[in-house]
Amino acid sequence: MNSFDYYMPPRIHYGSGSLNKLSEIVSRYGNRCIIIGPEMNQFIRPIYERAEKILSSEGINFKCFYEVEPNPSTKTVLKAKKIAEEYNIDLIVAIGGGSTIDTSKMVASLYGNQNVDFTQLFKTNDYPFGIYPPIGPNPKPYVAISTTSGTGSQCTQAAVITDDVSHQKLTVFHQNHFAKEVIVDPELMLSLPKGLTASTAFDAFTHAFESYLNHRLAPHTMFMSEYAIKTIFNYLPKVLKENKIEYREELAYADTLAGQCLANGGAHLPHPISEVIGSSITSINHGQALAIVYPYFMDYHWKNEIDKYAFIARALDSSYESKTNEEAARQFNEIVTKFGYTSSTVPVTEGLHLKDFAIYLENNNLLVSAVMNERPEFKDFNRFVVPAEEVYAINSLYINGTVIVPKGYPITQKIIEDLGYPIKLVDSNEFKKIDGSLTCLSLRF
Ligand SMILES: [Fe+2]
Repeated sequence: MNSFDYYMPPRIHYGSGSLNKLSEIVSRYGNRCIIIGPEMNQFIRPIYERAEKILSSEGINFKCFYEVEPNPSTKTVLKAKKIAEEYNIDLIVAIGGGSTIDTSKMVASLYGNQNVDFTQLFKTNDYPFGIYPPIGPNPKPYVAISTTSGTGSQCTQAAVITDDVSHQKLTVFHQNHFAKEVIVDPELMLSLPKGLTASTAFDAFTHAFESYLNHRLAPHTMFMSEYAIKTIFNYLPKVLKENKIEYREELAYADTLAGQCLANGGAHLPHPISEVIGSSITSINHGQALAIVYPYFMDYHWKNEIDKYAFIARALDSSYESKTNEEAARQFNEIVTKFGYTSSTVPVTEGLHLKDFAIYLENNNLLVSAVMNERPEFKDFNRFVVPAEEVYAINSLYINGTVIVPKGYPITQKIIEDLGYPIKLVDSNEFKKIDGSLTCLSLRF
């Protein structure tokens, strides 16, 4: 058996209605907190109102910082930190998904540090399993309340932040980035829109799968990965059809398991690549970026881990029992494809396509390589960069029920035809001028 380290400090309060424990939990750490969350919207408003009411009723003082954007920036971290310091908090309450929880991690660990050097932090704290000195003189505890079932951030030591200077999306790891306590209340996820439900669940699947591929994983964490993957494949299609609490409970549990797997196994190649996509195309969320990368990653990688791919393939589809390991492993990608398909529209910036991303990657190879070269599993990174003309995921526009594809992309054309969408071919120059919504055709469920 492999040697392994396993570290998972947070106390996890799982279950519908567990938000009601909030004041009891917060009281363990003080009576003065900052609540950090995303900008107010119709989905998060009722959750904020409930949390604020629970805290007020127990006489807990709080200040609200509802300004966290998707892909949170160093500027946002510093703004929240300043407010927290001025309010002299005892702890932080994070309400939201990965962006909020990651921002809270940084505020918690930087608290009291008046000379924050993000550039240095991004350089030094870049290994998931490092044991680092404190980042600030007076780190604060934080309680995480997750409102999505996908990022796993409530159970990890990673804070993904976009550097305002370089505009790169980078990760600061610290063993103290774990929450003190976590509330996973699936009732809070009932208001999550379908698109976010799908993309965050895809993210959770990737946490379970990528950590499963890593050899440092403990045997019991491998069981957790397998269970999480099966649960996501089983319940995501159900919840997208019918928003039932039973289904939300399953997905929330799977996400919590997958987060623990990620914290102890680490991510694989798709995660850093998706962060590069997220840095350059900010209108795409993390799960969508992963969904774009995955078909290519699996096609490229399955030969390296035939037994593991085959095992998961059979766990998901028993008809693969009769196939050889190699056949089952090779066809895992097809299982993910068959699993379903959801198109998710996000705003597009004029002239921005995944083709640009491929160019971006090549032009910034040194930057990417600097990260990749330090980890042996990334040594083949350059081979993985997809030629621009083969990228189909974004270089098509979905407008009024028709997919518009530039001429000269036969793979794109074939995939869209196979999917049964009406298609219109236009000249490349014409295509770049079209303003519309963008369809992530690789996001399949
Ligand atoms: Fe992720």
